[in-house]
Amino acid sequence: MKVAVVKETWPAERRVALVPEAVAKLRSAGHEVLVERDAGTGAFFADEAYTEAGATVVSAAEIPTADAVLMVARPDSGLLGRLRAGQAVLGLFAPLTDPDFVEQLAATGVTAVSLDLIPRTLSRAQPMDALTSQANIAGYKAALIAAAAFGRFFPLLITAAGTARPAKVLVLGTGVAGLQAIGTARRLGAVVSAYDVRPETKTEAQSLGATFIELASVQDAAGAGGYARALTDAERAAQQAELADHIARHDVVITTAQVPGRRPPMLVTSTAIKAMAPGSVLVDMGASELGGNVESSVAGETVVTDNGVTIIGADNLPSSMAAAASAMYARNVSSLLTYLIKDGAFTVDLDDELVAGVVITRDGAVIHPALAKPPAN
Ligand code: NAI
Repeated sequence: MKVAVVKETWPAERRVALVPEAVAKLRSAGHEVLVERDAGTGAFFADEAYTEAGATVVSAAEIPTADAVLMVARPDSGLLGRLRAGQAVLGLFAPLTDPDFVEQLAATGVTAVSLDLIPRTLSRAQPMDALTSQANIAGYKAALIAAAAFGRFFPLLITAAGTARPAKVLVLGTGVAGLQAIGTARRLGAVVSAYDVRPETKTEAQSLGATFIELASVQDAAGAGGYARALTDAERAAQQAELADHIARHDVVITTAQVPGRRPPMLVTSTAIKAMAPGSVLVDMGASELGGNVESSVAGETVVTDNGVTIIGADNLPSSMAAAASAMYARNVSSLLTYLIKDGAFTVDLDDELVAGVVITRDGAVIHPALAKPPAN
């Protein structure tokens, strides 16, 4: 098969879908690999490294000749225009939040495979789980950003010039990213508390050394597939009010809460921010164009409030660690691609739960059940 790697089309996206090591593995499995010129530059992989690994460096115009096209983030309209009907296209398309984009993808006639829809509880899907690999990076980086923005120490420090008490860090949302943020903040010496609406996360957070906060307002909001469900308006208001007291007692708050297919839940209100001490830091990993976990956070921006609280809208943290993120993503996407190749050809077997979970468009139509439009009356 001929596999192509595109140069990502969004200026802020520094990751690349395949790193040279992954190219070499696909080559030894008998596939031809095309890499668009400069595709790896943002992650510090030079074109020469791809050539040495056995790829052919090509211009964008040659992408339509490939059987399968690999990318990380959504294609922009220019790249959409270069895709060819019948091609397989693999990436992180976040389809649940943008039906219009999925329609545009379908209109190109490609077979689109979205890694963020992988049924993560299937053990055979674990090497392909890009949400987990990228969330691990994001959680780690969120803790580092928080420590860098905080004007005091994370660890207890006893020196001749005085004693620094350890920072008190609160992690809201203890899925993959939250657990990694807990572990990283603990390794930096902070005292860490954590909260999530899924009760099963309590022991996971505790095993990493965090104190788990339980709220009277929302005791269990576990939903389907290991994810949280959306809260009702009444639950959300009660949760926000109860959380505000805990937030005010912490120096640093890192938020990672998500509900699949929804805007990120609002956990930290402006009222809660006003009650925080000057010098406190909020890192909102949920920040996106859909909104965030923190009321006034703006994706990609850092603001300091009138009461001296630094709010960091930390969107797309994996891109800020592009080399590591690309290496992990490359393993995920190569595993999925290899799984989908049968007898040398890209094959869609919708009777396979894993395949049915990830294929979103085919032959010009949106075929994923979670994305299908309700029938017209
Ligand atoms: P996510 O990114 O969808 O959400 C992050 C966290 O936010 C979750 O823990 C969720 O419970 C929490 N959250 C949502 N709404 C909240 C609210 N209002 N207040 C506080 N917290 C809220 O989740 P992620 O990290 O992608 O994965 C969630 C779970 O999926 C994992 O913890 C695990 O149980 C499961 N999973 C299973 C895998 C496997 O079986 N191999 C692999 C990866 C994940």
